[in-house]
Amino acid sequence: MAASSLIVAPSILAADFAHLADEARAVEGAADWLHVDVMDNHFVPNLTIGLPVVESLRKATTLPFDCHLMIDAPDRWAVGYAEAGAYNVTFHAEAAEDPVGLAKNLRAAGSRAGLAIDRDTPVEPYLEMLPHFDTLLIMTIKAGFGGQSFMPELLDKVRTARRHIEAGELDLRVEVDGGISLDTIARAAEAGADTFVAGTAVYRSDNPAEVVRRMRQVAAGAAGLP
Ligand code: DX5
Ligand code: ZN
Repeated sequence: MAASSLIVAPSILAADFAHLADEARAVEGAADWLHVDVMDNHFVPNLTIGLPVVESLRKATTLPFDCHLMIDAPDRWAVGYAEAGAYNVTFHAEAAEDPVGLAKNLRAAGSRAGLAIDRDTPVEPYLEMLPHFDTLLIMTIKAGFGGQSFMPELLDKVRTARRHIEAGELDLRVEVDGGISLDTIARAAEAGADTFVAGTAVYRSDNPAEVVRRMRQVAAGAAGLP
């Protein structure tokens, strides 16, 4: 694995919502994916954006979309994001009635399928499902708001997942989301994450693209990648 195999996905949750197209373009050429947090004021208390914004923003940037659905009833709604052209659609294990069935439907609709595990959810019950998924998102905060402090104890779930993936020679990414910054990304990479979401650290900086590049370098160094 080389540094280029690591993915950094800026989260537009911390961007200026009045200028989302400009904010997306500001990280083109540096970021690998654009992380789009969809919150419905039910699964989490916060409310953000939904399908119409995703559909419009898709046309404004070449970046692949990593849609993170923090919503109830993803079995009903998630496929719409795949049909809208999202590269990866991640839904929460806590909210889905049939995670494997939904993963199959997402893949059939042309996207990759992601499973998210919130702060208080153990990862072990979901390990056997991982062959049906392309990404496993381990929250490193409680889902719902940007700007929270990274919780290093949640990296135990990353280690558990990484061991299971290596033992089974599975092909999926381990993504971390919440409090990831230049100060915390090394610990996440050492634990076995290969995909890193960062909202505040990227978009509340003076040079978002440069922060993305530096985050990848730091993660690669921590993971021992060239
Ligand atoms: C929160 C979202 C995150 C959020 C991370 O529930 O899933 O993607 O944007 O923001 P930071 O990087 O500020 O913790
Ligand atoms: Zn997210």
